[in-house]
Amino acid sequence: MSDRAGHRGAGAGTHAAAIETLFQEAREFPPPPNFAAQANISHPAIYDQASADPEAWWAAEAARLDWYRLWDTILDWDPPFARWFVGGQLNVSVNCLDRHVNAGGGDKIAYYWEGEPGDRKTLTYNDLYTEVNKAANALKELGVRRGDRVAIYMPMIPELPIAMLACARIGAPHTVVFGGFSAEALADRINDSQAKLVITADGGYRRGKASGLKVNVDEAVARTPSVEHVLVVRRTEQDVTMQDGRDLWWHDLVPPQLDWCEPERMESEDMLYLLYTSGTTAKPKGILHTTGGYLTGVASTHRNVFDIKPDDVYWAAADIGWVTGHSYIVYGPLANHTTGLIYEGTPDFPDPSRWWDIIERYGVTILYTAPTAIRAHMKWGPQHAEQHDLSSLRLLGAVGEPINPEAWIWYHEHIGGGRCPIVDTWWQTETGGIMISPLPGLTVTKPGSAAKPLPGVFADVVDDRGEPVPLGEGGYLVLTRPWPSMLRGIYGDPERYKTTYWSKFPGLYFPGDGARRDEDGDYWLMGRVDDVMNVSGHRLSTTEIESALVDDKRVAEAAVVGRADDVTGEAICCFVILKSHVEPSPALGEELRQHVAHKIGPIARPRQLMFTPDLPKTRSGKIMRRLLRDIATGRQLGDTTTLADAGVVESIRDATRAATDDE
Ligand code: WTA
Repeated sequence: MSDRAGHRGAGAGTHAAAIETLFQEAREFPPPPNFAAQANISHPAIYDQASADPEAWWAAEAARLDWYRLWDTILDWDPPFARWFVGGQLNVSVNCLDRHVNAGGGDKIAYYWEGEPGDRKTLTYNDLYTEVNKAANALKELGVRRGDRVAIYMPMIPELPIAMLACARIGAPHTVVFGGFSAEALADRINDSQAKLVITADGGYRRGKASGLKVNVDEAVARTPSVEHVLVVRRTEQDVTMQDGRDLWWHDLVPPQLDWCEPERMESEDMLYLLYTSGTTAKPKGILHTTGGYLTGVASTHRNVFDIKPDDVYWAAADIGWVTGHSYIVYGPLANHTTGLIYEGTPDFPDPSRWWDIIERYGVTILYTAPTAIRAHMKWGPQHAEQHDLSSLRLLGAVGEPINPEAWIWYHEHIGGGRCPIVDTWWQTETGGIMISPLPGLTVTKPGSAAKPLPGVFADVVDDRGEPVPLGEGGYLVLTRPWPSMLRGIYGDPERYKTTYWSKFPGLYFPGDGARRDEDGDYWLMGRVDDVMNVSGHRLSTTEIESALVDDKRVAEAAVVGRADDVTGEAICCFVILKSHVEPSPALGEELRQHVAHKIGPIARPRQLMFTPDLPKTRSGKIMRRLLRDIATGRQLGDTTTLADAGVVESIRDATRAATDDE
């Protein structure tokens, strides 16, 4: 008998319910004729062309980039290790900058930038080119060489993409750590990547307050022996401690540098960056992306999915510290010579009309954001958007989690004015770029469905044995062929790469998501089938939070589950067993929630914490999270047959009636 502990989506109980509600969603939205008429991709034959010869199709996409040397082999596939455009040489910063500047496009705006306090900057491609060259020379002066890793821990300011591109120019892979992560999380990522340099800022603005970043870096680098220097951008002008010989100000080091730095000729398969993502164990995974295939994938999908035109003002309202920012704020858009927008702060500062004010002022034409943000705007009400002229918008996108049909319709009506197609894009840190999505000039969209795999991408939905399930049924999503922007591994751990993604179904890539295909072959994503939680579009590992709880001396054991939440997608619920001499109290619950926020970051602060005498476990000792989820949501219990001690659930129910809540 298969044990589904920790599974949801494709698991028996919740799976049926998910399909039931989705079946009720029958609305369809064909592309508006005027949109279809001007779309970059307007002929369905593209799918067949790509399927007939996927390698030739991707090679044609790669040929749009500038290569110092063309590849000898399009794909070298030694499962599960792929190498794309083998023998080819290129530089990513040259493709994002020099290429456009040399073609006379240097005066075009690369980024409109707006800080949360309201300060503004405009950077042309010429400006960005100069800044990147200078920053690249500064990195070299600090001893950073091709192949060295650089950690970047910054707010959403122009120096962040500049730092990334400077790394790419000299062939030093970057690892961007989201500014909301704690000192401890930063230290773990620096130690795993063995970064030599940390680029940071004194702090950044969030909700009207200057938060500190350098202070966290100081705490982190106290236990990261690989770090030689810390380069600090002045943003908030708060007090920081600068350690002599180790710490340098960006404004002292970068401006005097020469404005030309010879770019490295990188091999197609050289590492471009690492980006850490949560796994099912506490140790985060360093997802490894390389150069030629990655840039091909993100440039191609950015152009096709967002229907990019020369006069677009494109806004991906995401943080650059997550993969969406890497692929669709920095590398894809710049490779396509796009004008983009970067906003530093939160959507409700100083009030919930901030985004709509920005869209009106800059004439934004394309908006790409996460369902959690859309749900927050729904909560604040449509009156904020109504006060602004959003008629410049022509296309909307969503990413990060399944978008519920209500949110899709709200987005379509209140933001898109009923005229903008919506692209619901499914992908992951590991896939590098968008995999399943509508093409806005072609696809008849359905609220809640990500439609079909893009041209050159091959997916399926399979059962426990890896056999495709019939249309209309749910199962496990798999990708059946390699694609150019796929991860090349987990940094330093090829075995973990194999077991995490390639062992469940031999020969198939398993992303960990459940999905259903409807009668038309359209994909409806059903969430993670493992126990990684998706809170406000961020993936958090239950195990990482459990480890943080158990880290407190008074805690014996902890189990963490996600509970469905209207706004954040999932809310974190913790079940905590205290050591026998410790008395539970609301104050202790609050202290532990605080502790998690400190250890992992504010995003991981548990919504609910319950003290319990025991946890439901299988005979093999695996915690049955599915049952805990039932308790957390107050649902009727599902199948309890694999429970080792059937009485335990009732004792938990009794004990957890008094919970410590954040609501
Ligand atoms: C989920 C974000 C449904 C999914 C780019 C995936 C989605 C995980 C969608 C990756 C979508 C992302 N519909 N689910 N459109 N987009 N997901 O690595 O579970 O932060 O595996 O990458 O988010 O999250 P990650």
